[in-house]
Amino acid sequence: MKAAWYERNGPAREVLIVGEQPDPQPAKGEVRVRLATSGVNPSDWKARMGVRPMLAPMVIPHSDGAGVIDAVGDGVSPSRIGQRVWVWNGQWKRVHGTAAALITVAQEQAVPLPDATSFAAGACLGIPALTAYRAVTVDGSVKGQTVLVMGGAGSVGHYAIQCARLLGAKLIIATVSSPEKAVRAKEAGADLVINYRTQDMVAEVLAATGQRGVDRVVEVDAAGHAAVLPKLVRQDGLCVVYGTNTPQVTYDFVPMIMSGVAVRFFIVYELAHEARQEAIATLTGWLEQGLLTHQIAAEFPLDEIAKAHEAVESGKLIGNVVISLPA
Ligand SMILES: NC(=O)c1ccc[n+]([C@@H]2O[C@H](COP(=O)([O-])OP(=O)(O)OC[C@H]3O[C@@H](n4cnc5c(N)ncnc54)[C@H](OP(=O)(O)O)[C@@H]3O)[C@@H](O)[C@H]2O)c1
Repeated sequence: MKAAWYERNGPAREVLIVGEQPDPQPAKGEVRVRLATSGVNPSDWKARMGVRPMLAPMVIPHSDGAGVIDAVGDGVSPSRIGQRVWVWNGQWKRVHGTAAALITVAQEQAVPLPDATSFAAGACLGIPALTAYRAVTVDGSVKGQTVLVMGGAGSVGHYAIQCARLLGAKLIIATVSSPEKAVRAKEAGADLVINYRTQDMVAEVLAATGQRGVDRVVEVDAAGHAAVLPKLVRQDGLCVVYGTNTPQVTYDFVPMIMSGVAVRFFIVYELAHEARQEAIATLTGWLEQGLLTHQIAAEFPLDEIAKAHEAVESGKLIGNVVISLPA
């Protein structure tokens, strides 16, 4: 099969190789997916650069992807052959990810993809959409609540706004860094968009919430917003952190303790079974009803995987980067 891989950590165009690898065969309880698309996420380039240790001398990157089941292992119903699916955790604690024509995964990691959902959109579900859903729902319902989505035009942020809207949030505020990103956040369903480069974010949030602060923050940059967090959240509110621009996060004790804010970190790769199933069930229902908008920024052929990684790494595109695999 055609695949991309790296044998050492380093910059995309120095270490990514495209070539032939043996076809994987599904083991007991597994399905094999003929992939149409592979999603590229920040986690993928960070792993390639060595943030996570390489688990083997050769790694096929990417956790997200979508395609059609073409073989099943023992214990899996043959009726699944031919099913359109999307994949989660394709390269989490595994060597063989989705940047390949074929992948074998445990059958629950291949989720039925509604007919009307494209394979490109299917490649955005495993990390961006599941992360967004979990970030919004980690502490239960947001119905009637005020939610602040930092980075509302980001891959995760854009889905997070939509999740908050579909789950009945009363007021959704999003931050962005440009007018173009403001349009994307508005289209996703933000009631108020703040350009954090040109506006006073704290003043705008307080004005929009009657000086109370928001019930929940969905946080893409924990370190960058640590100092302002107690001002943004209502008494005893919640900040759900899924990202940070710098690894050290420093909080001021007195403002934090006075605000009573709870800070909740999570990583989508390690979602508990029940949380993942709930997210998958709800997202599937929304997909079937055509309620989710996907933000595909660019598609690259597998041969241009290095360009795809560089595009994600640069942070210049708005939305998801997807690789299309040869049929
Ligand atoms: N915990 C998890 O399981 C999980 C899952 C997915 C992603 N992540 C992490 O989350 C981060 C975002 O992932 P992504 O796929 O959404 O990336 P993305 O598509 O590049 O989006 C990131 C967005 O955040 C915005 N942003 C960055 N710094 C900001 C700040 N200080 N204030 C407001 N907005 C800011 C960026 O726009 P501007 O820079 O123009 O503002 C961009 O729109 C990455 O670090 C990724 O590794 C974690």
